[in-house]
This record gives sequence, structure tokens and C-alpha cells, in this order.
Amino acid sequence: MILKRDGAVENYAIRRGVPEDAKGIIECMQSVMDEKIYLVSEYYLLTERGERERLKNKDDLTLVCELNGKIAGVTTIQRGMYRKNRHVASLGIAIRKEYRHMGMGTGMIRDAISWSKQQGIEKINLEVFSSNVHAIQAYRNLGFQYEGVRKRQFLIGDRYVDDVLMTYFTSGWNGD
Ligand SMILES: CC(C)(COP(=O)(O)OP(=O)(O)OC[C@H]1O[C@@H](n2cnc3c(N)ncnc32)[C@H](O)[C@@H]1OP(=O)(O)O)[C@@H](O)C(=O)NCCC(=O)NCCS
Repeated sequence: MILKRDGAVENYAIRRGVPEDAKGIIECMQSVMDEKIYLVSEYYLLTERGERERLKNKDDLTLVCELNGKIAGVTTIQRGMYRKNRHVASLGIAIRKEYRHMGMGTGMIRDAISWSKQQGIEKINLEVFSSNVHAIQAYRNLGFQYEGVRKRQFLIGDRYVDDVLMTYFTSGWNGD
């Protein structure tokens, strides 16, 4: 549910992405990439056809957040492909600028964590620019812990930022 500035209430739905969502997902991802300050890639590399194929893969999860027929946010969980890292997954998330700080990100990550638990995924990793303080706070609120920092890993314009590695143990394991 979103409470708009004029007092109106709109409902959004978080659901699993299907091949028919390919175009909307690409548009959503590209709009965030166009901002150039949150994601490493500046161009979505898959074509619509490639994205449709990717969405058929049942080993990974793509969640979309839909509002008035438009895809406002996308969250992906990509599981390790080897026997040695099948218990680990990587999380990616992007919400269109106009829909941020309305609870969509928190809702999608909670759903992604539940799905991961059901799949037997024990550890969810993510990487975030040190400059992205809102995202880091959102991840901390959800229980993600710091795992490491790669110093000056990225150059955004003329500013170096660190790559902050964060993780969530779905079993509640706390490192002991
Ligand atoms: C980071 C992101 C996923 C968070 O999702 P969201 O839907 O905007 O966040 P939520 O509404 O669920 O808010 C969760 C917390 O994030 C923080 N936050 C998010 N946006 C914020 C803002 N504009 N100002 C201050 N805090 C903010 C707050 O701590 C918030 O908790 P609160 O509501 O108790 O204050 C989303 O803003 C986004 O996609 N940003 C651009 C792309 C990006 O950074 N992707 C992640 C790359 S690693």
C-alpha cells in the first residue's frame, strides 16, 4: 500500500516475474542504470528475448513489484551454480526513482529471503556502493551484516567509492 501526498491510497503487488514481464523489467532496470550512481552496469545487457529466457529459469528468483500495471521494482536472487556454492545466492534490487522509500524494497527483500529459505539457500550476499547510504540502512534494518569492504573498487564520476559486502544467514547463524 502506498499513501500518496494527496492522501490517495494505491496498492502494489509483489509477485514472481514471468516471461511476459521481460519488457517492463528491462525498462525498470534501465531507468535505474540511467541514474548511474547505484548500479555497476549502465546498460541492461539482455535483449527482451534473452530476458524472457532468463525468467524461465526456476533455479533463480525474480520478483517484480507492480503498481497500476507498471513494474516499479525488480529483485533478483541468483543461486550459486556449483555444488560448492549452491547454498549461497546473490541478491540484486532496483526500484524506480519515483517509487522509493515506500516500503517496496523491504517487502521484496523479505519475500526473497522467505523463498531462499524454502529453497535451502543458507546465505544471501549482496554488494553495495559505500555512497549508497539509504540502501545500506535498508539492508541493516532487514538483518544483513557487514562482511567486508573492497576499498576504492569503483569510480563514479571523479569519486572513488568502496564496495561494501553484506550478507544474511537465513538460518540465523551469527558467525560463531
Ligand atoms: C535501496 C532500495 C532498494 C530501498 O528500497 P525502498 O523501497 O526505497 O526502501 P524502503 O521503503 O523499503 O525503506 C527501507 C529503508 O531504507 C532507507 N531508505 C530508503 N530510501 C530512503 C530515503 N530516500 N531516505 C532515507 N532513507 C531511505 C530507510 O532506512 C528505510 O527505512 P525507514 O522507512 O524505516 O526509514 C531502493 O531505494 C532502490 O532501489 N534504490 C536505487 C537502486 C539501488 O540502490 N539498488 C541497490 C544497489 S546495491
